[in-house]
Amino acid sequence: MDDTDTELNSSELGTHTYWQQAYIKEISNFEENGDPGDVWFGEDSAYRVVDWLRRNVEDKNTAVIDLGCGNGYTLSELAREGFTNLLGVDYCEEAVILAEKVSKREFPVIRFKVFDITRDDLSSLGPFGVVHDKGTYDAISLHPEDAKGHREKYIEQVAAMLDETGIFVITSCNWTEEELIKHFSEKFKLKCVIPTPQFKFGGKVGSMVSSVVFVKK
Ligand SMILES: C[S@@+](CC[C@H](N)C(=O)[O-])C[C@H]1O[C@@H](n2cnc3c(N)ncnc32)[C@H](O)[C@@H]1O
Repeated sequence: MDDTDTELNSSELGTHTYWQQAYIKEISNFEENGDPGDVWFGEDSAYRVVDWLRRNVEDKNTAVIDLGCGNGYTLSELAREGFTNLLGVDYCEEAVILAEKVSKREFPVIRFKVFDITRDDLSSLGPFGVVHDKGTYDAISLHPEDAKGHREKYIEQVAAMLDETGIFVITSCNWTEEELIKHFSEKFKLKCVIPTPQFKFGGKVGSMVSSVVFVKK
């Protein structure tokens, strides 16, 4: 990354406290009325990635990790498609508790673990053939202290946990596909962009969310 990189304005979404409070509420909603909680950027954005993985990853025993898995929705959908080696990690213990409760009955095959992707030691994890992120790099980019340092650590850790022939799939609403390609360019090269709905404003065409697939350099 060079000095011309701009950072996002920090936000409470970049803090552990925010997520802890959100998931405490979601656990109690789930217990009271079975509501599994938010799917960030909507079910369609998860579906597009799951569908891409279904069509492009032949071996359904490939080790898959979901970084910042939240309620585990993406992993449940991958299990529904026949993937068997699934691990969700989140730095928020309450997210892991929620994900376990939500998926336990239908998809007991999915494992969950409390893990801070910007801090914890990777030696107990991986390597993975698929590393998936939806909204977690976004949250990390909103960290109130040293967002850039946290982003850089995240990129380093993803590169270290990814198998030499593995793929890294990231969905973001805070960064454009060009920005993602630039951020990850030191260690990754672009494999493809998963098409997302486009909107046109003032003569410019853009997307609300970007889903980009990378392989290691
Ligand atoms: C926007 S939510 C996305 C949740 C889920 N991936 C989804 O698409 O519904 C961001 C998630 O990242 C988690 N998170 C944020 N920073 C993290 C970190 N450093 N390590 C692991 N998880 C983190 C939060 O607890 C939260 O569950």
